[in-house]
Amino acid sequence: MRKLFVSAGVLIACIVAIYSSSCNNETKESGPTVNNDSLDKVISRGKYLAVHVAACIHCHSQRDFSKYSGPVVPGTEGGGGSKFDHTILDAIPGTIYSRNITPDPETGIGTWTDDEILRAITQGINKNGDTLFPIMPYANYNRMAKEDLLSIVAYIKTLKPIKNKVPERQLMIPISMAYPGPALQKSVDGNVRPAESDKVKYGEYIFTIADCGACHTPFVKGQPDFSRVDGGGNIFTIANFKVASANITPDSATGLGTWTEERFLTKFTLYRDEKNYNLDPGTQNTVMPLSEYAGMNDDDLKAIYAYLRSVKPVSNKVEKYPK
Ligand code: HEC
Ligand code: HEC
Repeated sequence: MRKLFVSAGVLIACIVAIYSSSCNNETKESGPTVNNDSLDKVISRGKYLAVHVAACIHCHSQRDFSKYSGPVVPGTEGGGGSKFDHTILDAIPGTIYSRNITPDPETGIGTWTDDEILRAITQGINKNGDTLFPIMPYANYNRMAKEDLLSIVAYIKTLKPIKNKVPERQLMIPISMAYPGPALQKSVDGNVRPAESDKVKYGEYIFTIADCGACHTPFVKGQPDFSRVDGGGNIFTIANFKVASANITPDSATGLGTWTEERFLTKFTLYRDEKNYNLDPGTQNTVMPLSEYAGMNDDDLKAIYAYLRSVKPVSNKVEKYPK
């Protein structure tokens, strides 16, 4: 069994800029507060977001790449230890491990207060005051509505404690180069979730939380290429396969321009049926966490589709399985 993990956001410092310029103008309507909901509802919302949308559990668990899209190895949920380095994606300047976010007091975050957990998720500062490497997409989570964030905190506290001491990261550059620092991260107190009726804006919200842009915006010399946002082409290498992220802009020739909403939904919903990922795809595998995203509800997926129709088309032909 392959216990390697791959993903996702790298050097997001700059991707932050993309999101902050495009998400700044959310209106400050009042949203429902957590206090009105029963704890069970809060936890199940948190589980939905942490497992299927923000994919916290996908990054913070072991994944089995002998199966399609590397589903989470059962029993390792939140235990951390997945490794990210340049052998997976060129742009990663060092070796970083996802941390143990289960409530184990010695090796996990069992002794952290809710505020400390929230600060790590939204500002990228851990209990010791150190800045997290931005593969952990805290800049995106800084845009999340506070009630959604609190529901995630409530859910991760219900994870089964796992004893797993994760190695320290080894960076080849100072963290200040990877991420300019906490000054960028505003308080999340005023954040609200856009109304679902505003499909494009709401879709952008879900897309941001799901960190889709991190894999789909091309890196050039370790930096995201802002002229080709969502244009694809990053090559990920796992021991037995290589795959390039797709162009998901509405360009008709090289992106999703000709995709109907139905086709887009099927890309995800196909994997609601376990037998469609519980197989060895050989070299035709993917790093996109489809076994988890499959659990996103249809409305959230349709909103992402609506948002993706609204982004700038980028002409960039991608070969899915490069040699
Ligand atoms: C793309 C992969 C990825 C995703 C998605 C992700 N994380 Fe992380 N997370 C990491 C990595 C890697 C680190 C360690 C960074 C470092 O060591 O600098 C980390 C660190 C953390 C920490 C700090 C723990 C510590 O001991 O310092 C917390 C808490 C955390 N993540 C919670 C979450 C939550 C909650 C979510 C979902 C809302 C989430 N993460 C989503 C990769 C990810
Ligand atoms: C960990 C990296 C990663 C993340 C995160 C990610 N993707 Fe992908 N995506 C890929 C790769 C690699 C491919 C190409 C292989 C495949 O089809 O799965 C791909 C393919 C796709 C395709 C198929 C396009 C085609 O031409 O066949 C769509 C649509 C897509 N991604 C949308 C999304 C959306 C929407 C999100 C966020 C909800 C997302 N991706 C998050 C890596 C990622």
